[in-house]
Amino acid sequence: STARPDAGALLAWYDRHHRDLPWRVSPPMAKQGVLPDPYHIWLSEVMLQQTTVQAVKAYFDKFVRRWPTVNDLAAAPVEDVMAAWAGLGYYARARNLKKCADAVASDHGGIFPDTEDGLRALPGVGDYTSAAIAAIAFNRPSAVMDANVERVISRLYAIDAPLPGAKPQMKARVAEMTPADRPGDFAQAMMDLGATTCTPKRPSCVLCPFREACVALLADDPERFPVKAPK
Ligand code: ADE
Repeated sequence: STARPDAGALLAWYDRHHRDLPWRVSPPMAKQGVLPDPYHIWLSEVMLQQTTVQAVKAYFDKFVRRWPTVNDLAAAPVEDVMAAWAGLGYYARARNLKKCADAVASDHGGIFPDTEDGLRALPGVGDYTSAAIAAIAFNRPSAVMDANVERVISRLYAIDAPLPGAKPQMKARVAEMTPADRPGDFAQAMMDLGATTCTPKRPSCVLCPFREACVALLADDPERFPVKAPK
């Protein structure tokens, strides 16, 4: 049988093995009383939606050097923003990025809303992005779900129900695990674990902080999860 999944073990893993990313505050983030700039988190999360971490780094640096605040981005001509986006792909994202910057500047005085609902009301900000900004930039206990987190949680509980139908069940499991004191670090830790350790093929289970709790590993078949509905 397996132990209960321990968010503390994941956070200890993240303290040692987190990726250093230009928009990140090194853990333990909230314990130090340091939170990242919401503009940085919003910008990086939009860029990361269809692009790899490695490719995003240089674009992120270029954008914040040129437009250090959301008000600067709002003041920029949309053509300049589109040109700076060239190479990232999915140009609708760049147009939405600009629309959202304009809304934050004109409707919110350049200050990002600090709740998931307030964030979701912004143009182009959906369930994923609002949860990610609330958790990472404001240390709110939002359950942040992306493909990496779905893989981790589906293996941890050996969730047999297929995606996408199983999403609410997975989100409820993530929500119940989220520690009240470090929700932002926890969200980023789940994403890093999925990206670096709980990989789609040949996951590195011996290095995983959840190895004693993972039901899929106990059954010796982590690669079976997440189960996907036939197309
Ligand atoms: N992928 C998308 N957002 C991420 C984040 N905040 N940390 C790690 N990987 C991510």
